[in-house]
Amino acid sequence: MAKAKKTYSCSGCGAVYNRWQGKCDDCGEWNSILEDKAAVSGAPKGLSAKKGRNVHLVSLDEPIEQAPRVLVGMNELDRALGGGLVPGSAILIGGDPGIGKSTLLLQAMGALALKGEDCVYISGEESTAQVQMRARRLGLSNAPLRLGCETSLRDILSTLDDGKPPKAVVIDSIQTLFADHVESAPGTVSQVRVCAHELISFAKRKGTIVILVGHVTKDGQIAGPRVLEHMVDTVLYFEGDRGHQFRILRAVKNRFGGTDEIGVFEMTGAGLNQVTNPSALFLADHNAREPGSAVFAGIEGSRPVLVEIQALVARSSAANPRRAVVGWDSGRLAMVLAVLDARAGLGLAGCDVYLNVAGGLKVSEPAADIAVAAALISSLSQVPLPEETVVFGEISLSGDIRSVSQTDARLKESSKLGFSRAMMPKVKKAGGSGIQQHTVSRVTDLVAHFFPDGVD
Ligand code: TYD
Ligand code: MG
Repeated sequence: MAKAKKTYSCSGCGAVYNRWQGKCDDCGEWNSILEDKAAVSGAPKGLSAKKGRNVHLVSLDEPIEQAPRVLVGMNELDRALGGGLVPGSAILIGGDPGIGKSTLLLQAMGALALKGEDCVYISGEESTAQVQMRARRLGLSNAPLRLGCETSLRDILSTLDDGKPPKAVVIDSIQTLFADHVESAPGTVSQVRVCAHELISFAKRKGTIVILVGHVTKDGQIAGPRVLEHMVDTVLYFEGDRGHQFRILRAVKNRFGGTDEIGVFEMTGAGLNQVTNPSALFLADHNAREPGSAVFAGIEGSRPVLVEIQALVARSSAANPRRAVVGWDSGRLAMVLAVLDARAGLGLAGCDVYLNVAGGLKVSEPAADIAVAAALISSLSQVPLPEETVVFGEISLSGDIRSVSQTDARLKESSKLGFSRAMMPKVKKAGGSGIQQHTVSRVTDLVAHFFPDGVD
């Protein structure tokens, strides 16, 4: 028999190499390449020798055999999942250490167990006593949840296979699991890949919902092979600023729903509370009289969310002025700055610019362009925006302000929160929300508002 050839793979991105090297060519990470003992190499055997069985092919309109979705009962979680958990699906949830993944999942499993579903929580990181103490703090000690502290994949699968399969299983975390037939340490690419594969096949075979917790690397990616994200049905990220109590659950991949929905939570002394009105929370400390602050009426998934955008612009003598952005895309900021300079002559190229989305939310909509621009110009001119005003609209490279989708929903939410004016692009049909619409069609209109005598 030919000797098995050694292969090496990158623990960051999963790229496979024939020999060890210090740097991964694919992701550029140093010291991430490890020997991959589990990989079986050698030429694949020809397929022709043995005939396979026929695959059962169906038409698209055949009746669908699928169990109904399972609602956890935590609306914000169900929303991020696209309307509850799908039986037999595998979900991966990532997030920084200490952000609240274990808390969220313990609360979710507790809620499901209290609804009479059979749920299992396996912790590879904490002892039974630690999880029990946390459950007590969360007021869940009477939830009929089955708890196990184990890291051996073989033992976990045997336990789950014994008797009726549970409705849902949480594995906290996939990096702590250990498959004894694979000769590498827990957390390595081959271990994570094998353990995830076995658990996902268990989910598909038995119809159990499998939720895997995944650690993230220092640049925010789920650690382990990239393939992990391809293997599961849903990938959720739990994000937030440790300094703030808000936490946002965001779907980045979902085979059973949209990926633009977010769930908003608040970390309190007694666990995570759902935030049903995120706008009120994000605007709690908003001071409309300060220059450099604009309220953006945004849409997250199907829900309008109002957030405060803060900017600080200061003249700089440095050759390369500083640009710092939190909660928005820095490339997009560069574009808005360039358009304001080129079309309205603001001279921002010679300024340090700091931009922050308050509350720890990450805004990705282009509709925030003019809210950012308004905050920047307001900071530069030291003129605050008019009170009770929201801003939304997209800026094109030509300096035109383009209309955005769901104007009515944005206006309605703004009116609900006590805003009376909107700086926005021209729309064909004005919504009947009672908001006074101040239309802006070019960036120069916006600038004229703050510099009525012109920019010097
Ligand atoms: P945890 O769920 O352990 O985070 P992860 O699993 O993502 O690493 O959350 C730990 C943090 O949450 C910890 O810093 C304390 C805080 N916390 C509260 O503020 N209130 C609570 O009721 C609980 C259980 C945790
Ligand atoms: Mg944890």
